[in-house]
Amino acid sequence: MIVLGIESSCDETAAALVRDDGLVLSDVVASQIELHAPYGGVVPELASRAHLANIVPVIEQALRALPLGLSEVDAVAVTQGPGLVGALLVGVQAGKALAWAKQKPLIGVNHLVGHLLAVYLRRDPAESPLELPMPYVALLASGGHTALYQVDDVDRIESLGATRDDAAGEAFDKVAKLLGLGYPGGPVIDKLAALGNPDAVPLPLPMRNKQSLEFSFSGLKTAVAQHVAKHGRPASEAACADLCASFQRAVVTSLVHKSIEACRRRKVPRLVLGGGVAANRGLRAAALAACQRQGIQLYVPPLASCTDNAAMIAYAGAQQLLRGQLDGPALNVYSTSPI
Ligand code: KG4
Ligand code: ZN
Repeated sequence: MIVLGIESSCDETAAALVRDDGLVLSDVVASQIELHAPYGGVVPELASRAHLANIVPVIEQALRALPLGLSEVDAVAVTQGPGLVGALLVGVQAGKALAWAKQKPLIGVNHLVGHLLAVYLRRDPAESPLELPMPYVALLASGGHTALYQVDDVDRIESLGATRDDAAGEAFDKVAKLLGLGYPGGPVIDKLAALGNPDAVPLPLPMRNKQSLEFSFSGLKTAVAQHVAKHGRPASEAACADLCASFQRAVVTSLVHKSIEACRRRKVPRLVLGGGVAANRGLRAAALAACQRQGIQLYVPPLASCTDNAAMIAYAGAQQLLRGQLDGPALNVYSTSPI
C-alpha cells in the first residue's frame, strides 16, 4: 500500500509518498524559515499564505516518484492537528480534494503520533525494516511540544509527562533571540555550544528534584535573560559559546534524566528520540552515554525524520488505515489535542 502524506501544521509545507512498511518513496519539504526569520518566530497568517502558495507544487513534486502519479496512491493522509488552524486547513482541504477527486480513503493524522512513529521510516530500499518492538518510551522534543510517551501500539499511546511551560525547542529559539543569534535557535546554539565550556555559567537545572516526568524550561530561559541583563550580551564569540554550552547542558540534562527515569519506571528498555531538538548533538551524545550505562537501547531517527515532514504522516496514516481507522469529507482540524 502506498500513502500520500500531507503536512502543514506549522512552518513547513510537506508532502511524501510512503509504503506501509515504512519505505519512503519521496519526501518533499518546503521550509518557511526565511519568511519567519525576521520576526524571530512563526507568524501564523504568513504561514497560512505560504502554505497556500506551496501546497500544490509540493504535492506535485512528491507524486513524481510514481509513473502514474496519484492513480497509484492507495490513500491520502493529512495532519489534522495540533498546530496553527489556518495552516492546518490548507493541508486538510488539499487532502480532502485529492481524496474526493480520485475516490481514495482519507485519513486524519495527529502530528504528534506522526513524530512518535517516524523511527520506522526507511529511506533506503536496501535497508531492512527496523526491528523495534513495542512498547517503547519516546521523547518528543520540538518547537511546539516536549513530552514523554509510552507507545504500546499505533493507537495506544500514553503521555507520561509534558512540559509545564515552554517546549525545549521554544527555549532554544527564545535564548537565541535574546543573544541575537537569529531563528531558529537550536542549530546555532548547538554549533556554538560545541565550542564552549558548559561549566562557565551556573544555571538552574529544570525540575531536577521533582519526582514527576514533567519538564519546565521557562525558569532556565529567565535565568539566561537575567544573566544577560546583569552582564550584557556576551561580547566575544568565546563568551557566547560558554553561555550556549551552559544553557544547552541544562536542557539536555533535564531531557535525558527524565527520559531514563521514564524507561526505568515503566521497565521499558527502549528509548526513541523525535522532534527537531533530537537533532541536537549534545542531546544525542548524552542520551547515548546514559542509555549505555543503563542498558537501554537508544533509537535516533535520521534528521529528516526528526524534523517536521510528511513521510511520518503518511506512515502513521497507513498504520491507521490498516486498522480500519479512516475519515470522511467532514474531517476537521484542531489546534490542540492530547494524543
Ligand atoms: O520538529 P520541528 O522541526 O518543528 C516543530 O514541530 O516544532 O522542531 C523545530 C525546533 C525549533 O525550535 C528548533 O530550534 C529546534 O527544533 N532545533 C534544534 C536543533 N535543530 C532544530 N534544537 C536544538 N538543537 C538542534 N540542533
Ligand atoms: Zn513537529
